[in-house]
Amino acid sequence: MPGLDFDLAQQGSPARLAAVPRLQLAGWPTVVDDVPRLAAALGWSGPLRVKRDDAASFAFGGNKVRKMEFYAAAARAAGADTLVTIGGLQSNHARVVAATAARLGMACTLVTNGTRPDVTTANALLDELLGAGRVFVADRGDREPAMARVVADLEARGKRPFAIPLGASTGLGALGFVAAAGELFDQGPAPQLIVHAASTGGTTAGLLVGCALRGVATRILAVSADEPSGVLRDEVRRIVVEIAEELDVVLDVEALLANCTFTDAYVGEGYGIPTEASTCALRLCARTEALFLDPTYTAKAMAALVDVLRDGRLEPGAPVVFWHTGGQVGLFR
Ligand SMILES: Cc1ncc(COP(=O)(O)O)c(C=O)c1O
Repeated sequence: MPGLDFDLAQQGSPARLAAVPRLQLAGWPTVVDDVPRLAAALGWSGPLRVKRDDAASFAFGGNKVRKMEFYAAAARAAGADTLVTIGGLQSNHARVVAATAARLGMACTLVTNGTRPDVTTANALLDELLGAGRVFVADRGDREPAMARVVADLEARGKRPFAIPLGASTGLGALGFVAAAGELFDQGPAPQLIVHAASTGGTTAGLLVGCALRGVATRILAVSADEPSGVLRDEVRRIVVEIAEELDVVLDVEALLANCTFTDAYVGEGYGIPTEASTCALRLCARTEALFLDPTYTAKAMAALVDVLRDGRLEPGAPVVFWHTGGQVGLFR
Protein backbone atom coordinates (compact mmCIF):
# COMPACT_ATOMS: atom_id res chain seq x y z
CA MET A 1 0.00 0.00 0.00
CA PRO A 2 1.12 3.60 -0.44
CA GLY A 3 3.22 4.88 2.42
CA LEU A 4 5.05 1.65 3.02
CA ASP A 5 8.33 0.66 1.49
CA PHE A 6 8.11 -2.79 3.02
CA ASP A 7 5.85 -4.85 5.21
CA LEU A 8 5.61 -3.13 8.57
CA ALA A 9 4.08 -6.18 10.16
CA GLN A 10 7.44 -7.90 9.60
CA GLN A 11 9.08 -5.22 11.72
CA GLY A 12 6.84 -6.24 14.61
CA SER A 13 5.55 -2.67 15.08
CA PRO A 14 2.10 -3.53 16.50
CA ALA A 15 3.95 -5.51 19.16
CA ARG A 16 6.22 -2.51 19.76
CA LEU A 17 3.16 -0.31 20.19
CA ALA A 18 1.73 -2.72 22.74
CA ALA A 19 5.02 -2.55 24.63
CA VAL A 20 4.95 1.25 25.10
CA PRO A 21 3.72 1.99 28.65
CA ARG A 22 0.13 3.19 28.63
CA LEU A 23 -2.12 3.95 31.55
CA GLN A 24 -5.76 3.26 30.79
CA LEU A 25 -8.02 6.22 31.52
CA ALA A 26 -11.18 5.27 29.60
CA GLY A 27 -12.95 2.11 28.50
CA TRP A 28 -12.11 1.16 24.91
CA PRO A 29 -13.22 0.78 22.18
CA THR A 30 -15.40 3.82 21.75
CA VAL A 31 -18.65 3.09 19.96
CA VAL A 32 -19.07 3.38 16.18
CA ASP A 33 -22.58 4.62 15.38
CA ASP A 34 -24.43 4.33 12.10
CA VAL A 35 -26.02 7.67 11.24
CA PRO A 36 -28.59 6.84 8.53
CA ARG A 37 -30.75 9.92 9.06
CA LEU A 38 -27.74 12.20 8.63
CA ALA A 39 -26.69 10.24 5.53
CA ALA A 40 -30.20 10.54 4.08
CA ALA A 41 -30.29 14.28 4.80
CA LEU A 42 -27.08 14.61 2.78
CA GLY A 43 -28.37 12.40 -0.04
CA TRP A 44 -25.62 9.86 0.69
CA SER A 45 -26.39 6.24 -0.16
CA GLY A 46 -23.26 4.64 1.32
CA PRO A 47 -22.60 3.61 4.89
CA LEU A 48 -21.87 6.60 7.09
CA ARG A 49 -20.57 5.95 10.59
CA VAL A 50 -19.32 8.10 13.44
CA LYS A 51 -16.48 7.04 15.72
CA ARG A 52 -17.62 8.36 19.07
CA ASP A 53 -14.48 9.49 20.85
CA ASP A 54 -16.66 12.30 22.19
CA ALA A 55 -18.25 9.59 24.32
CA ALA A 56 -14.96 8.17 25.68
CA SER A 57 -15.59 7.43 29.33
CA PHE A 58 -13.14 9.83 30.93
CA ALA A 59 -13.65 13.48 31.82
CA PHE A 60 -16.04 14.27 28.93
CA GLY A 61 -13.86 12.37 26.47
CA GLY A 62 -12.40 13.57 23.22
CA ASN A 63 -9.23 12.80 21.29
CA LYS A 64 -6.90 14.02 24.02
CA VAL A 65 -7.82 11.09 26.27
CA ARG A 66 -6.10 8.69 23.87
CA LYS A 67 -2.95 10.80 23.82
CA MET A 68 -2.97 11.27 27.57
CA GLU A 69 -2.89 7.55 28.31
CA PHE A 70 0.70 7.49 27.05
CA TYR A 71 1.66 10.73 28.81
CA ALA A 72 0.09 9.55 32.07
CA ALA A 73 2.28 6.45 32.01
CA ALA A 74 5.37 8.52 31.18
CA ALA A 75 4.63 11.01 33.97
CA ARG A 76 4.12 8.26 36.52
CA ALA A 77 7.30 6.48 35.39
CA ALA A 78 9.20 9.77 35.80
CA GLY A 79 7.97 10.01 39.40
CA ALA A 80 6.12 13.24 38.66
CA ASP A 81 3.85 14.88 41.21
CA THR A 82 2.57 17.76 39.04
CA LEU A 83 1.40 17.91 35.41
CA VAL A 84 1.98 21.20 33.59
CA THR A 85 0.67 22.10 30.15
CA ILE A 86 -0.33 25.00 27.90
CA GLY A 87 -3.46 25.89 25.97
CA GLY A 88 -6.29 28.38 25.58
CA LEU A 89 -8.68 29.08 28.46
CA GLN A 90 -11.20 26.70 26.90
CA SER A 91 -8.69 24.09 25.80
CA ASN A 92 -10.00 20.52 25.64
CA HIS A 93 -6.43 19.33 25.98
CA ALA A 94 -5.92 21.31 29.20
CA ARG A 95 -9.13 19.85 30.65
CA VAL A 96 -7.98 16.30 29.95
CA VAL A 97 -4.53 17.02 31.45
CA ALA A 98 -6.21 18.45 34.57
CA ALA A 99 -8.45 15.37 34.76
CA THR A 100 -5.48 13.04 34.31
CA ALA A 101 -3.66 14.78 37.16
CA ALA A 102 -6.71 14.31 39.38
CA ARG A 103 -6.98 10.63 38.43
CA LEU A 104 -3.27 10.10 39.17
CA GLY A 105 -3.36 12.02 42.44
CA MET A 106 -1.06 14.71 41.04
CA ALA A 107 -1.29 18.50 41.07
CA CYS A 108 -1.78 20.42 37.82
CA THR A 109 -0.84 23.86 36.51
CA LEU A 110 -2.29 25.15 33.24
CA VAL A 111 -0.54 27.98 31.43
CA THR A 112 -3.16 29.91 29.49
CA ASN A 113 -3.08 32.97 27.25
CA GLY A 114 -5.60 35.69 28.02
CA THR A 115 -6.99 37.05 31.26
CA ARG A 116 -8.82 35.43 34.14
CA PRO A 117 -12.56 35.53 33.30
CA ASP A 118 -15.12 36.84 35.79
CA VAL A 119 -17.25 33.75 35.32
CA THR A 120 -15.75 30.38 34.47
CA THR A 121 -17.73 28.17 32.14
CA ALA A 122 -17.32 24.98 30.10
CA ASN A 123 -13.75 23.59 30.10
CA ALA A 124 -12.49 26.38 32.36
CA LEU A 125 -15.15 25.45 34.91
CA LEU A 126 -14.17 21.77 34.72
CA ASP A 127 -10.49 22.72 35.18
CA GLU A 128 -11.44 24.57 38.34
CA LEU A 129 -13.52 21.66 39.65
CA LEU A 130 -10.59 19.36 38.95
CA GLY A 131 -8.42 21.55 41.15
CA ALA A 132 -5.99 22.74 38.47
CA GLY A 133 -4.01 25.90 39.11
CA ARG A 134 -3.77 28.46 36.33
CA VAL A 135 -1.11 30.92 35.18
CA PHE A 136 -2.13 33.60 32.65
CA VAL A 137 0.14 35.04 29.98
CA ALA A 138 -0.62 37.73 27.42
CA ASP A 139 -0.16 35.88 24.11
CA ARG A 140 -0.02 32.40 22.65
CA GLY A 141 3.70 32.88 22.01
CA ASP A 142 4.34 33.51 25.72
CA ARG A 143 2.96 30.15 26.81
CA GLU A 144 5.99 27.92 26.19
CA PRO A 145 8.52 30.18 27.97
CA ALA A 146 6.02 30.58 30.82
CA MET A 147 5.65 26.81 31.07
CA ALA A 148 9.45 26.50 31.32
CA ARG A 149 9.42 29.07 34.15
CA VAL A 150 6.58 27.25 35.94
CA VAL A 151 8.51 23.97 35.71
CA ALA A 152 11.74 25.59 36.99
CA ASP A 153 9.86 27.25 39.83
CA LEU A 154 8.18 24.01 40.90
CA GLU A 155 11.53 22.20 40.79
CA ALA A 156 13.10 24.93 42.91
CA ARG A 157 10.36 24.25 45.46
CA GLY A 158 11.20 20.54 45.55
CA LYS A 159 8.33 19.39 43.32
CA ARG A 160 8.61 16.95 40.42
CA PRO A 161 6.76 18.61 37.50
CA PHE A 162 6.15 16.92 34.17
CA ALA A 163 5.55 19.19 31.16
CA ILE A 164 3.17 18.05 28.44
CA PRO A 165 3.50 19.93 25.11
CA LEU A 166 0.62 21.69 23.35
CA GLY A 167 -2.09 19.20 22.40
CA ALA A 168 0.22 16.32 23.48
CA SER A 169 1.01 16.24 19.76
CA THR A 170 4.31 14.41 19.85
CA GLY A 171 5.24 10.95 18.67
CA LEU A 172 4.40 9.68 22.15
CA GLY A 173 0.94 11.28 22.36
CA ALA A 174 0.08 10.36 18.78
CA LEU A 175 0.56 6.68 19.61
CA GLY A 176 -2.96 6.99 21.02
CA PHE A 177 -4.23 7.42 17.48
CA VAL A 178 -1.98 4.75 16.02
CA ALA A 179 -3.78 2.40 18.40
CA ALA A 180 -7.14 4.05 17.67
CA ALA A 181 -6.88 3.29 13.96
CA GLY A 182 -6.38 -0.38 14.78
CA GLU A 183 -9.33 -0.18 17.16
CA LEU A 184 -11.58 1.09 14.36
CA PHE A 185 -10.46 -1.60 11.92
CA ASP A 186 -11.31 -4.22 14.56
CA GLN A 187 -14.86 -2.86 14.66
CA GLY A 188 -15.77 -3.40 11.01
CA PRO A 189 -14.56 -3.04 7.43
CA ALA A 190 -12.01 -0.26 6.87
CA PRO A 191 -13.71 2.84 5.47
CA GLN A 192 -12.62 4.43 2.23
CA LEU A 193 -12.41 7.81 3.96
CA ILE A 194 -11.99 9.09 7.52
CA VAL A 195 -12.82 12.75 8.11
CA HIS A 196 -11.69 14.48 11.30
CA ALA A 197 -10.90 17.86 12.82
CA ALA A 198 -7.22 18.76 13.07
CA SER A 199 -5.16 21.41 14.79
CA THR A 200 -1.83 20.38 16.29
CA GLY A 201 -1.54 17.35 13.99
CA GLY A 202 -1.25 14.47 16.46
CA THR A 203 -4.57 12.88 15.59
CA THR A 204 -3.84 12.95 11.86
CA ALA A 205 -0.30 11.64 12.24
CA GLY A 206 -1.44 8.78 14.48
CA LEU A 207 -4.24 7.78 12.13
CA LEU A 208 -1.92 7.82 9.11
CA VAL A 209 0.62 5.57 10.79
CA GLY A 210 -2.15 3.39 12.24
CA CYS A 211 -3.55 2.79 8.75
CA ALA A 212 -0.07 1.95 7.47
CA LEU A 213 0.56 -0.52 10.29
CA ARG A 214 -2.62 -2.36 9.36
CA GLY A 215 -1.92 -2.18 5.64
CA VAL A 216 -5.18 -0.30 5.12
CA ALA A 217 -5.55 2.13 2.22
CA THR A 218 -8.07 4.41 3.93
CA ARG A 219 -7.79 8.08 2.92
CA ILE A 220 -7.74 10.70 5.64
CA LEU A 221 -9.28 14.14 5.31
CA ALA A 222 -7.80 16.41 7.99
CA VAL A 223 -9.92 19.54 8.39
CA SER A 224 -7.98 22.34 10.02
CA ALA A 225 -9.59 24.31 12.84
CA ASP A 226 -6.99 27.05 12.66
CA GLU A 227 -3.64 26.46 10.92
CA PRO A 228 -3.04 26.91 7.18
CA SER A 229 -2.94 23.46 5.58
CA GLY A 230 0.79 23.74 4.77
CA VAL A 231 1.62 24.36 8.45
CA LEU A 232 -0.60 21.45 9.49
CA ARG A 233 1.03 19.16 6.95
CA ASP A 234 4.52 20.09 8.24
CA GLU A 235 3.46 19.39 11.81
CA VAL A 236 1.98 16.03 10.80
CA ARG A 237 5.23 15.20 8.98
CA ARG A 238 7.26 16.00 12.14
CA ILE A 239 4.97 13.86 14.31
CA VAL A 240 4.99 10.93 11.86
CA VAL A 241 8.82 10.97 12.04
CA GLU A 242 8.60 11.00 15.85
CA ILE A 243 6.15 8.08 15.85
CA ALA A 244 8.52 6.11 13.62
CA GLU A 245 11.25 6.76 16.21
CA GLU A 246 8.98 5.73 19.10
CA LEU A 247 8.08 2.48 17.37
CA ASP A 248 11.48 1.98 15.74
CA VAL A 249 9.99 1.45 12.29
CA VAL A 250 11.00 2.77 8.88
CA LEU A 251 8.27 4.74 7.11
CA ASP A 252 8.19 6.39 3.71
CA VAL A 253 6.92 9.59 5.25
CA GLU A 254 6.10 11.45 2.03
CA ALA A 255 4.17 8.51 0.59
CA LEU A 256 2.29 8.24 3.85
CA LEU A 257 1.42 11.96 3.79
CA ALA A 258 0.08 11.46 0.26
CA ASN A 259 -2.74 9.39 1.83
CA CYS A 260 -4.02 12.52 3.53
CA THR A 261 -5.81 15.59 2.22
CA PHE A 262 -5.27 18.67 4.38
CA THR A 263 -7.76 21.48 4.08
CA ASP A 264 -8.01 24.88 5.74
CA ALA A 265 -11.06 25.83 3.66
CA TYR A 266 -13.41 25.53 6.64
CA VAL A 267 -11.58 27.74 9.17
CA GLY A 268 -13.57 30.82 8.12
CA GLU A 269 -12.62 33.97 10.03
CA GLY A 270 -10.51 32.04 12.50
CA TYR A 271 -10.08 29.60 15.33
CA GLY A 272 -13.26 29.15 17.34
CA ILE A 273 -15.31 31.49 15.16
CA PRO A 274 -18.28 29.59 13.72
CA THR A 275 -19.02 29.80 10.01
CA GLU A 276 -22.43 29.54 8.40
CA ALA A 277 -21.54 26.05 7.17
CA SER A 278 -20.28 24.88 10.58
CA THR A 279 -23.39 26.16 12.33
CA CYS A 280 -25.59 24.36 9.77
CA ALA A 281 -23.58 21.15 10.21
CA LEU A 282 -23.83 21.38 14.00
CA ARG A 283 -27.61 21.82 13.85
CA LEU A 284 -28.06 19.11 11.22
CA CYS A 285 -26.24 16.49 13.34
CA ALA A 286 -28.24 17.41 16.45
CA ARG A 287 -31.56 17.33 14.60
CA THR A 288 -31.03 14.15 12.60
CA GLU A 289 -29.04 12.00 15.03
CA ALA A 290 -29.00 13.76 18.43
CA LEU A 291 -25.26 13.96 17.78
CA PHE A 292 -23.64 16.99 19.37
CA LEU A 293 -20.63 18.52 17.66
CA ASP A 294 -18.50 21.34 19.04
CA PRO A 295 -18.30 24.76 17.41
CA THR A 296 -14.49 25.02 17.30
CA TYR A 297 -13.38 21.72 15.77
CA THR A 298 -15.90 19.05 14.87
CA ALA A 299 -18.58 21.30 13.37
CA LYS A 300 -16.02 22.61 10.86
CA ALA A 301 -14.89 19.07 10.07
CA MET A 302 -18.51 18.05 9.55
CA ALA A 303 -19.02 21.04 7.23
CA ALA A 304 -16.21 19.58 5.11
CA LEU A 305 -17.82 16.12 5.13
CA VAL A 306 -21.15 17.63 4.08
CA ASP A 307 -19.44 19.09 1.00
CA VAL A 308 -17.58 15.86 0.22
CA LEU A 309 -20.76 13.78 0.35
CA ARG A 310 -22.89 16.29 -1.55
CA ASP A 311 -20.36 17.04 -4.28
CA GLY A 312 -20.13 13.49 -5.56
CA ARG A 313 -16.37 13.47 -4.99
CA LEU A 314 -16.53 9.96 -3.54
CA GLU A 315 -17.37 6.73 -5.30
CA PRO A 316 -21.10 6.10 -4.67
CA GLY A 317 -21.64 3.76 -1.74
CA ALA A 318 -18.12 4.17 -0.36
CA PRO A 319 -17.99 3.58 3.40
CA VAL A 320 -17.13 6.77 5.29
CA VAL A 321 -16.29 7.41 8.95
CA PHE A 322 -16.53 10.75 10.67
CA TRP A 323 -14.15 10.64 13.64
CA HIS A 324 -15.81 12.67 16.40
CA THR A 325 -12.87 14.06 18.35
CA GLY A 326 -14.98 15.56 21.14
CA GLY A 327 -14.98 19.13 22.39
CA GLN A 328 -18.73 19.20 23.04
CA VAL A 329 -18.10 20.86 26.43
CA GLY A 330 -17.46 23.96 24.28
CA LEU A 331 -21.20 24.18 23.62
CA PHE A 332 -21.60 25.49 27.17
CA ARG A 333 -19.21 28.44 27.04
C1 LIG B 1 -12.28 18.52 19.94
C2 LIG B 1 -10.99 18.52 19.21
N1 LIG B 1 -10.95 18.02 17.97
C3 LIG B 1 -9.82 18.01 17.25
C4 LIG B 1 -8.65 18.52 17.76
C5 LIG B 1 -7.44 18.49 16.91
O1 LIG B 1 -6.60 17.43 17.27
P1 LIG B 1 -5.04 17.55 17.03
O2 LIG B 1 -4.57 18.67 17.89
O3 LIG B 1 -4.51 16.23 17.42
O4 LIG B 1 -4.84 17.88 15.59
C6 LIG B 1 -8.64 19.06 19.07
C7 LIG B 1 -7.43 19.65 19.67
O5 LIG B 1 -6.73 20.44 19.19
C8 LIG B 1 -9.83 19.06 19.81
O6 LIG B 1 -9.88 19.55 21.05
